[in-house]
Amino acid sequence: MTTAKLLFDNQEYDFPVFEGSEGEKAIDFTKLRAQTGAVAYDPGYGNTGSCKSSITFIDGEEGVLHYRGYPIEQLADQSNFVEVCYLLINGELPTQDELADFQHRLTYHTLIHEDMKKFFEGYPPSAHPMAIMAAMAVSLSAYYPDLEDPEGIDLNIIRLLAKFKTIAAFAYKKSIGQPFIYPRNDLSYTADFLHMMFAVPAEDYQVSDVLTRALDLLLILHAEHEQNCSTSTVRMVGSSRANLFASIGAGVTALWGPLHGGANQEVINMLQMIKDDGGDHRKYMDMAKDKNSPFRLMGFGHRVYKNFDPRARILKQAADDVLNELGVTDPLLDIARNLEEIALNDSYFVERKLYPNVDFYSGIIYRAMGLPTNMFTVMFALGRLPGWIAQWKEMRNDPETRINRPRQIYTGATERDYQPLAQR
Ligand code: CMC
Repeated sequence: MTTAKLLFDNQEYDFPVFEGSEGEKAIDFTKLRAQTGAVAYDPGYGNTGSCKSSITFIDGEEGVLHYRGYPIEQLADQSNFVEVCYLLINGELPTQDELADFQHRLTYHTLIHEDMKKFFEGYPPSAHPMAIMAAMAVSLSAYYPDLEDPEGIDLNIIRLLAKFKTIAAFAYKKSIGQPFIYPRNDLSYTADFLHMMFAVPAEDYQVSDVLTRALDLLLILHAEHEQNCSTSTVRMVGSSRANLFASIGAGVTALWGPLHGGANQEVINMLQMIKDDGGDHRKYMDMAKDKNSPFRLMGFGHRVYKNFDPRARILKQAADDVLNELGVTDPLLDIARNLEEIALNDSYFVERKLYPNVDFYSGIIYRAMGLPTNMFTVMFALGRLPGWIAQWKEMRNDPETRINRPRQIYTGATERDYQPLAQR
């Protein structure tokens, strides 16, 4: 099949059909409006392929997730976050030399300009760290010029990856009123982040291997997820040729929402609410099903996965393992397990194919690691950064990229005459 036929207004139109490398079929409607005068109506873009991409493959029906062809289970088990960053951004796994060079560059660009530290002082201690992250990401463009050549773009990518974790840790220190801890060049990416988060000048802080491994796993699982809300935002902003830092800053704000990356914070708030209310899960399940109630089971459901989210499967096991290794017991984990069990056997959730998503168990692990709830979405942003960067770079280099500019179906008032104020 190479064309699809559309019968519209008694006239037949042919549209080209093409297939992705995993057999996904697409009808090319690029000329739809030019040929028929009509536009495709698809609110939320659930059926719209906005680009061709060779970064991530998801089969939502089968619960499959690949980064550059590699199954997420293998990467979670055998790789580390820095290697996954390289893979996503450059398309191939690095050789030993390439990885050593990448790691070295990531280490030596971790400092932010000293003047940027003053920005943190301006925020109230109650500021949500996502507000600071978004502002700081965009502000990097004020200190590091927009470079257009491939080497310059590559340098800014390294700067962003290296400095983002410093900014995240500084945002946390600001929120608890502690002095900033500067990056250390002898530590790995994840260990350095933990050190900047949890070290205090008066004490000797040893970065725990358990925490480093847990963080690596979480960041790998969040690293990329094709055209989700924040990634599409990064591409959309970047399609106007906005610079890398500005585009990523927009991605951070898109991620913040509770239906997207903000859900991990909301899951913990929800579990805590259920616990404080006596642990009656069924009451909350009924509320989630009640169409008159705005309550949703946070951490459940996904636009693409209509089967288990493979990341949630890995994280459920990791939550057990990490809590055991750290010797932490968390009553919220029991509530989460009970909710999951009830939901997986409830016809409302079964019929709508609503399963736990990546955010359902991640918050439990972050809590066990000692992170406050309002840092959870920052952790998601830190993980998603290489995915955003890879998508931004792919968009920049794609000759088919046009400024993103959807159409609409106007439903407002038809033309009418203005009436001066005195006559209204
Ligand atoms: N609790 C109760 N009902 C739900 C839920 C939920 N969490 N999610 C979806 N539904 C119902 C929804 O009411 C609708 O029912 P009906 O067909 O009777 O109208 C049906 O399931 C389909 O839902 P939808 O809202 O049309 O689905 P969507 O694809 O537009 O939304 C979603 C996907 C993730 C926004 C949604 O499932 C949701 O709000 N989940 C809770 C928030 C959450 O966990 N977000 C994190 C997503 S994964 C991390 C990431 O962003 O990458």
